[in-house]
Amino acid sequence: MQNRAIITAVGGYVPETKLTNFDLEKMVDTNDEWIRSRTGIQERRILREPGKASSDMAVKAVEELMVKRNLSPLDIDCLICATVTPDMVFPATANIICDKLGAKNAWGYDLSAACSGFLFALSTAAMFIESGRYKKVVVVGVDKMSAIIDYTDRATCIIFGDGAGAVLLESSDDATVGIKDSILRSDGSGRDYLHMKAGGSLKPATLETVMNKEHFAFQDGQPVFKFAVKGMADVSAELLERNGLTGEDIQWLVPHQANLRIIDATANRMGLPKEKVMINIQKYGNTTAATIPLCLWDWEKQLKKGDNLVFAAFGGGFTWGATLVTWAYDGEK
Ligand code: UT7
Repeated sequence: MQNRAIITAVGGYVPETKLTNFDLEKMVDTNDEWIRSRTGIQERRILREPGKASSDMAVKAVEELMVKRNLSPLDIDCLICATVTPDMVFPATANIICDKLGAKNAWGYDLSAACSGFLFALSTAAMFIESGRYKKVVVVGVDKMSAIIDYTDRATCIIFGDGAGAVLLESSDDATVGIKDSILRSDGSGRDYLHMKAGGSLKPATLETVMNKEHFAFQDGQPVFKFAVKGMADVSAELLERNGLTGEDIQWLVPHQANLRIIDATANRMGLPKEKVMINIQKYGNTTAATIPLCLWDWEKQLKKGDNLVFAAFGGGFTWGATLVTWAYDGEK
């Protein structure tokens, strides 16, 4: 009997506060037309409440999973949290999420792979299920990007937003569904183009690092854009080829939401029309590790058992990858 890892529920959470392009026009030298035509973004959500962190958004997303599957947090064996905006440098946000949920039987840890974090975590979690070691593994992608964005830097503040998405992985003996294949890649030389300069062991926080705004996300957009277009499209095409599939066999592309132009390039390369591509960048912006599960959350009702989905991501590191999933259930649970 085969232990196939299947997604059995999707949860999500976005904060209520909206930051629109028109709001940003009042903060930096930008305009709605530029942002929409260069990125596809119209607004993003921002977690404004003091004292609230990534873990609070993640808890809401995981609670939705529990309700949908009629489970208790005590049923969770393991929780992997993909994030670049942990509540604290340590302990892991996964521990904090489990504590807030009351998931007393779970162990967990954080995974840092920026915008590819959800894919890397999903692949790892799938192996825990396939090995037969664990029955219920939660994968969360969450980022409170507003905590590390300089709202005077128009190169980054227009792109990012806050949110959380989560999936529950369980096992199935039906080999026709579930997480079927992944191609995951990383290249540390990409760190020059997308990083946070201070706050790590290389450059601990000092008054000077704070004054120099080195605790904000830095991005050299153009090289990242070029790598992203090639990286995400290459790996998605390779995934199709090695599974003997073409765009016609795929019902949905679930791409990381960084830039509409990167998404279009990936879809074109896979031979997919727009109707088969999940796009919610216009309302959430780039929520880093949360984009792919937030797409699944928005589209869950439309998904049918047997649909072939390709998840594709590209992010800081550089990290990138694509995962082939055959959906295991019909519509919303
Ligand atoms: O999710 C993790 C991975 N990240 C990504 O995948 C992001 C990849 N990069 C991008 O999406 C794009 O590079 C950006 C959206 C960040 C920038 O778009 P771009 O088309 O690469 O713009 P650019 O940096 O080449 O700038 C083009 C022009 C420049 O003006 P000049 O020199 O042509 O006069 C910029 O100064 O647009 C100007 N510009 C802006 N204008 C209005 C740059 N940012 C803005 C802005 N508003 N916010």
